[in-house]
Amino acid sequence: MSGLTVQLTAPNGHTWSQPTGLFINNQWVKSSNGEKIASINPSTAKEITSVYAASEQDVDTAVKAARAALNNPDWRELPASERGRLMTRLSQLIDENKKTLATIETIDNGKPYLVSLNDDLTEASETIRYYAGFADKVFGQVIETTPDKFGYTLREPVGVCGQIIPWNFPLAMAAWKLGPALACGNTVVLKPAEQTPLSILFLANLIVEAGFPPGVVNIVNGHGSIAGAALASHMDVDKIAFTGSTATAKHIMKMASSNLKNITLETGGKSPLIVFNDADLEQAVEWAHIGIMYNQGQICTATSRILVQDEIYDKFIAAFKAQVKNVSKVGDPFEESTFQGPQVTQAQYDRIMSYVNVGQSEKATLAYGGKPFKVADGKGFFVEPTVFTDVTSKMRIYQEEVFGPFVVIARFKNEEDAITMANDSTYGLGSALFTTNLTRAHRVAKRIEAGMVWVNSSNDSDWRIPFGGVKQSGIGRELGEAGLAAYSNVKAVHVNMKSKL
Ligand code: NAI
Ligand code: MG
Repeated sequence: MSGLTVQLTAPNGHTWSQPTGLFINNQWVKSSNGEKIASINPSTAKEITSVYAASEQDVDTAVKAARAALNNPDWRELPASERGRLMTRLSQLIDENKKTLATIETIDNGKPYLVSLNDDLTEASETIRYYAGFADKVFGQVIETTPDKFGYTLREPVGVCGQIIPWNFPLAMAAWKLGPALACGNTVVLKPAEQTPLSILFLANLIVEAGFPPGVVNIVNGHGSIAGAALASHMDVDKIAFTGSTATAKHIMKMASSNLKNITLETGGKSPLIVFNDADLEQAVEWAHIGIMYNQGQICTATSRILVQDEIYDKFIAAFKAQVKNVSKVGDPFEESTFQGPQVTQAQYDRIMSYVNVGQSEKATLAYGGKPFKVADGKGFFVEPTVFTDVTSKMRIYQEEVFGPFVVIARFKNEEDAITMANDSTYGLGSALFTTNLTRAHRVAKRIEAGMVWVNSSNDSDWRIPFGGVKQSGIGRELGEAGLAAYSNVKAVHVNMKSKL
């Protein structure tokens, strides 16, 4: 349809055709009420373009398309190996369009271009490729019971899956959710975050090119409170998968109860990173820096609470500040030397600044940063990397997720103390520990209340390894073989061979 694509050029000179519509049944359409959302470049605070925003009615249309596709023999009866082949083709197309997709990710989200290209795009294509391999390896069991009877199980798709994506890793988060859903034969209505819709809309054209039948994947950009809520409460959606804030997840859980939807939630965190006396200090400093400052600190698993043992506390802080100063170069994300781009939105920028005030009013020591950072005309959402020290577990900056390049450092006396402080959180997503003592590493790993533990590193993520949280950090797992469990139902078939009544 004309008027649903615009030609865009990024600051790096890259030009591409950007879809701006809703993607339903492999076609581009306008929203029923004509409403649009402006997508902003966070480096300049200027509009890149605007895209159509789905109304409740549009979400309903997309759900109907997904339901029809689920029942369409073109998808339902497609041999699983063929399904895998379509997915492999999609991952190849992502690779072929890697530079365009990375450019879009950077202009829309603000993350450094080389990070988009090397990390986000690799993650997206590898995740789809990994799950493509699983498409024909998800099957049931035969269960022998008595000589007269036996049972077998089938692994069936859950059905129509609503997927709600955040803005911090738009394409990668879409891949985490599309991969297992498609491998298991589901159909999808995916809602990108309204702050970063562009790369996922571009991906939609690749889904058509890969050969997926109409309606298997539908993409409805839109506001959370309208399109997201319509999806979460829809009576004909079988499952909702969400990544975002814990507050929104609680809301989604309530809406999903309307028809008892299957849910997976991946939410907030305040992940601890523990540095013991016997750690390789240099390595601990480097990983601790990456663990919070990577991706502008906008990572659910960011190790945003650093706990350091008494004897090395001062030494660690001095080295950590030096590392921030040397490595966290803030600036234009299209500049190769930039480590930290702008925060994604004015709202996130304001949130970080407000937590600087909180930290100061709580009498923590502002050891580094804490101010806006001016790039070019000063309109972009850049902040200084920020470090608070002398933080205690009662403080709000120790307890609440900030979601920016903002870290708190606290001290502990002994191992027991470290575990207590690490677990003193409503969250339980990631956790990291630094020690050269092998038995301590595993002893502490076992006692931390978290979905993931990094021993002598931070924020490693791999599509082959399960990812998710405990406590208020989420429900269920994504990635790895565990990620498939969320997208298939087990049906038990009981067979009676000869028992007669
Ligand atoms: P959010 O949780 O409100 O948004 C995430 C997604 O949920 C977006 O697609 C949004 O449109 C959708 N959404 C929002 N309200 C909804 C509703 N009522 N029903 C259905 N869907 C809805 O997060 P937001 O406001 O963008 O960021 C606020 C905070 O959330 C951040 O500061 C950070 O702490 C946290 N966050 C965590 C993420 C993670 O990776 N776990 C990612 C993004 C945000
Ligand atoms: Mg944007």
